Amino acid sequence: MSIKQHYDLIIRNATIIDGTKAARYAGDIAVSDGVIKAIGRLDAAADTEIDASGLIAAPGFIDAHTHDDRLLLSDRDVTPKVSQGVTTVITGNCGISLAHSPVPDGAPTPPLDLLDTEGGWFRFQSFRAYRETLEAQPAAINAACLVGHTTFRVATMDRLDRVATASEIAKMRDMARESLASGAIWISTGTAYPPAACASTEEIIEVCSPLRELGGLYVTHMRNEDDDIVDSMEETFRIGRELGSEVVISHHKCVGTRNHGRSPETLALITKTMGRQAVGLDCYPYIASSTVLRYDRLEQSSKIIITWSKPHPEFSGVDLEEVAKRLNMSRADAVEAIKPAGAIYFMLNEDDVQRILKFDDTMIGSDGLPHDVKPHPRLWGTFPRVLGHYSRDLKLFPLETAVYKMTGLTAAKFGLENRGVLKQGAHADITLFDADTVIDAADFEHSTRPAIGIDTVIVNGTPVWRDGKATGARPGRVLTRAHT
Ligand code: ZN
Ligand code: CU
Repeated sequence: MSIKQHYDLIIRNATIIDGTKAARYAGDIAVSDGVIKAIGRLDAAADTEIDASGLIAAPGFIDAHTHDDRLLLSDRDVTPKVSQGVTTVITGNCGISLAHSPVPDGAPTPPLDLLDTEGGWFRFQSFRAYRETLEAQPAAINAACLVGHTTFRVATMDRLDRVATASEIAKMRDMARESLASGAIWISTGTAYPPAACASTEEIIEVCSPLRELGGLYVTHMRNEDDDIVDSMEETFRIGRELGSEVVISHHKCVGTRNHGRSPETLALITKTMGRQAVGLDCYPYIASSTVLRYDRLEQSSKIIITWSKPHPEFSGVDLEEVAKRLNMSRADAVEAIKPAGAIYFMLNEDDVQRILKFDDTMIGSDGLPHDVKPHPRLWGTFPRVLGHYSRDLKLFPLETAVYKMTGLTAAKFGLENRGVLKQGAHADITLFDADTVIDAADFEHSTRPAIGIDTVIVNGTPVWRDGKATGARPGRVLTRAHT
């Protein structure tokens, strides 16, 4: 007579894609105390059994590029992400983070208003304060949090249209150091946006210098993604070298008709640069971008849809052409009339998007904007779109590669230990999905429709999504760097 091993949870009869790009195999996964204890053909018992016949079991997806800093606190089920199979989000991208932000009351300076149009959420005067709040009221999923140079600038400087002074740089450097010491994983910048556009390369190197001691990761929405993209890439690489840090080029893309078809050039430059320093990049699977409404995007876009407007909420979801008609003014004047606002810009080329997605080192990041009234569909659709549309239907890469780009690759790049892979001893972040049916359902018209084919989502051993809805469990943790 033998006594069977007993676990908290067993997933039986799964087809396992482990997040390393290795070929799929059949097996069961046993979980106890939030950790994967065994994988294989298991003759064991468990409190909870999930039959995964016909389903893929993959590591929970890691969204490499998010603006979910506030969503984790204001919608703790994080449904736009959980419904896609996402179990960890990297927050604080593009220089924008809630943390380290003694921003005075009132409407935050764009683009910080992407996180909060009203004011009030920028109240975390240290990263520690943000982290403690999130840990006291956990979300359904894990978060690994970047802190943003733009937030530091807004918090520190009386005017943003100049380079920071030595004493302002010293203050920002202290903020960076405090954040990294209190659990922020790395630092992001967004020099494409006005509040950070006047920052010199030297300012950024100085503010980010605490990364040097850590051999860190410098994540950037580059100064320019259109005509001057190569100069911006060179600036990014230089900053990485001076900081002794790896770089991540956020949402890599070639913006504007004039630059369509330039991805072979930019990807070749990345490959060449990888010969002497570590370079990473992320990408979302759409030909439209989205951010605050900007006049300078008019010329570069074939179509613009308003995602929110503070003075004119009725224009959410409306084409700028139509807005101009209704206001009886030019498109340029309409932009001024409805600001502050957000927009979707159709300004990318499908061949470039596919080439960048397919590039070996490209991670998947949604860049979703969770507080937009009528958001870009990437918020709800990114991961199933890569799995279903690009991998299965267009055969851009095998499913194992698609999963790797949203799990193992991302965990390794950001230093998230024992995440992003299915192996004994890893944290039990697991997504079960149907490879035949998985697909995004959100489109530009119906932008918040949950994806199809995501069966079960497990975070730290606890199911947070089953039968097409949130379970209400909130086992998410704030993830910190490996070795600290
Ligand atoms: Zn960005
Ligand atoms: Cu972003």
